[in-house]
Amino acid sequence: MRVIIVKDYDAMSKLAAKFIREQMEVKPNLVLGLATGSTPLGLYKELIRMHKEEHLDFSKVVTFNLDEYIGLPKDHPESYYSFMWDNLFKHINIPESHIHIPDGTIVTPEEIESGRLPIRKIEAYCEWYENEIKKYGGIDIQVLGIGRDGHIGFNEPGSSLGSRTRIKTLLEVTRRDNARFFDGDINKVPKYALTMGVGTIMEAKTLLLLASGENKAEAIKMTVEGPVTARYPATIIQLHPKAIVIVDEPAASQLEYEYERA
Ligand code: GLP
Repeated sequence: MRVIIVKDYDAMSKLAAKFIREQMEVKPNLVLGLATGSTPLGLYKELIRMHKEEHLDFSKVVTFNLDEYIGLPKDHPESYYSFMWDNLFKHINIPESHIHIPDGTIVTPEEIESGRLPIRKIEAYCEWYENEIKKYGGIDIQVLGIGRDGHIGFNEPGSSLGSRTRIKTLLEVTRRDNARFFDGDINKVPKYALTMGVGTIMEAKTLLLLASGENKAEAIKMTVEGPVTARYPATIIQLHPKAIVIVDEPAASQLEYEYERA
């Protein structure tokens, strides 16, 4: 694992964008795994700037998003579909047919809660999503944020470290953290999500995990220096042959050992 500590959020975002750009120069049809949340916003802004000012070309790039809420229509302002279009896709020249975001409308929260799950439909959809990734030769770079509880995608603590794309129930800590996007009201935050599994994420050729701010310090300490455990799903990246962790100083503040600085 390569751990790089940078000064602040801006430096983290720029370094991540530079890395992606370099890979796009080598492989214009790069398959990118993308994340949502506040962490990658600066990275997306920088990629947009590179596209607009330096003609970075996304016409051959293919993307797969990690996850999506269940229970929000696609056009809901807080769906990850809206997030990705507003914060990246509509500003770059990626063809719509190259974009993949899990469809959180294949099942409703009511179906989940009533126990009348359209299991075949869900399984078929999840399998299709995984097969699409394979069809493009797998994900070259998977961008990851991290939840305070150590989740990646929406793989909450206790997730099987070999899990595949499936439905997960969100923990209260995650819903509380994400309430800031829903008028501060936890009751408006969906309870379920569709997410790539930990095993799916681990198949990406490179993992690029980003974290900023002191509220991520404990999760980063566990991810980098803790034992591999389903209690903190992100710790699995210690087993990945090519995982890069870019953290700013506050997020790195609980790390015990010395790491690369940029
Ligand atoms: C969300 C997303 C994750 C994200 C994480 C951290 O719930 N599903 O992909 O990495 O939580 O979010 P943020 O970057 O806003 O702290």
